[in-house]
Amino acid sequence: MSMIKDDNHSPMISNHPLSSNVDRVLISNREIMVRISELAQEISKDYAGEDIVVIGVLKGAMPFMAYLIKEITTPIIMDFVAISSYSGGTSSTGIVRFQKDVEESLKDKHVLIIEDIVDTGLTLKYLLETFKLRQPKSMAICCLVDKPARRKVEIPVKYVGFTIPNCFILGFGMDYEESYRNLDFVGIMDPQTVQRLQEEASKVLIVP
Ligand code: PRP
Repeated sequence: MSMIKDDNHSPMISNHPLSSNVDRVLISNREIMVRISELAQEISKDYAGEDIVVIGVLKGAMPFMAYLIKEITTPIIMDFVAISSYSGGTSSTGIVRFQKDVEESLKDKHVLIIEDIVDTGLTLKYLLETFKLRQPKSMAICCLVDKPARRKVEIPVKYVGFTIPNCFILGFGMDYEESYRNLDFVGIMDPQTVQRLQEEASKVLIVP
């Protein structure tokens, strides 16, 4: 597991076309790619000789999952769920909605759930409880980033890319109001920047 501190002041961010509202790089693209390879090796070793149903939690898990599965050497079946626990902005509402279910039967299968971020843990708690009823052979969770300071419910996360401090992050699948998911690094948006964007968005344009 890699512990990440908010002390990275990489100059690369100033050259990135999407970076105007991103305050700092927290995890560089190089660090992400190296860690994904390590996780894929660990997963391949743990499931050697077994098939896995790899389930991505849309939308945030998509970039992480895309790179991860390319390096997993055991046979996989891909599937996706869409769950939402955020109503917008930067914090969890605690409201979990199941918007799309998997298409595969999970009975007697090894299930690996892929997430971009584990925050309160409410989304994964709901998924684990729901999938358990379908009698899989095993279930495990793999996330790109873990933010333990925000946890409301304890859940077992077997594969963690990076453990991060309690800051608002975006990029590599993670969004602010649906934007920035295609940043190739994980960046930080400071609270002042979030507040400024919220104020700008709430301004009403009065046309005379
Ligand atoms: C994010 C993230 C996780 C969830 C984690 O999803 O992708 O699924 O929140 O939060 P939690 O641990 O507090 O439940 P979001 O609902 O924002 O949807 P998205 O993946 O489409 O961005």
